[in-house]
Amino acid sequence: MILQRMRNEGEKISMLTAYDYSMAKLLDLAKIDVILVGDSAANVMAGYKTTLPITLNEMIWHASSVVRAVERALVVVDLPFGTYQGNSKEALNSAIRIMKESGADAVKIEGGIEISESIDRILSAGIPVMGHLGLMPQSINKFGTYSVRATEQKEAEKLLSDAKLLEKHGCFGVVLEKIPAILAQEVTDSITIPTIGIGAGAHVSGQVLVLHDMLGITQQFSPRFLRRYHNLGEEIINAVSHYIKDVKESNFPNEKEQY
Ligand code: KIV
Repeated sequence: MILQRMRNEGEKISMLTAYDYSMAKLLDLAKIDVILVGDSAANVMAGYKTTLPITLNEMIWHASSVVRAVERALVVVDLPFGTYQGNSKEALNSAIRIMKESGADAVKIEGGIEISESIDRILSAGIPVMGHLGLMPQSINKFGTYSVRATEQKEAEKLLSDAKLLEKHGCFGVVLEKIPAILAQEVTDSITIPTIGIGAGAHVSGQVLVLHDMLGITQQFSPRFLRRYHNLGEEIINAVSHYIKDVKESNFPNEKEQY
């Protein structure tokens, strides 16, 4: 797989989220390596406080919108909360629906040993699986906060052993979210599949961010790991204010803008 080659050759992997056709088209034109149709759509697109409410049908709708736009990037889709933890058969059915109905390339699921049976089942159907360890937003009700994970030795040891397990079971990569950089480096050095970090420091095979955060569309969310590459939120507000003013003052449309 291309991501494995990139890791082997030391080329960093770029990954961003997208949930709709227009944004996915722009990311693909910019030559992003991987587009993640993340269940963060629940927060960013729908305004929920957690990722838990988004449904499989909604994820498929977002994923198929993205797939229609993409010509070169790899498209990975999150299995939403409640569609794979119950039993491995249900996990397989959910993954099959995503692949069949959206045309995506792979699925991503949160967790380690607890979901290893589901991973095996999904892989047995020829569906590539990306893991996700560290801060797992679908488990927010277990941990109660979105703070840095695996700072204690016991949790760090479990994370390392889960990462090895994901590799052993055949995952093609693993997202490491909000963990100490030193641990992310240890994980990356201990496995051979690509590690994609978000708030996990620089010693990983690639990086992922939520598109709306890095573009400055979401404005209240400012964790330390987030680099804002633009202040699109402010630009949109300015453009819309300008439009409102033009309409109110009868400056739009002008003669050239009418039939
Ligand atoms: O849903 C999502 O956007 C994610 C990323 C934060 C990795 O899982």
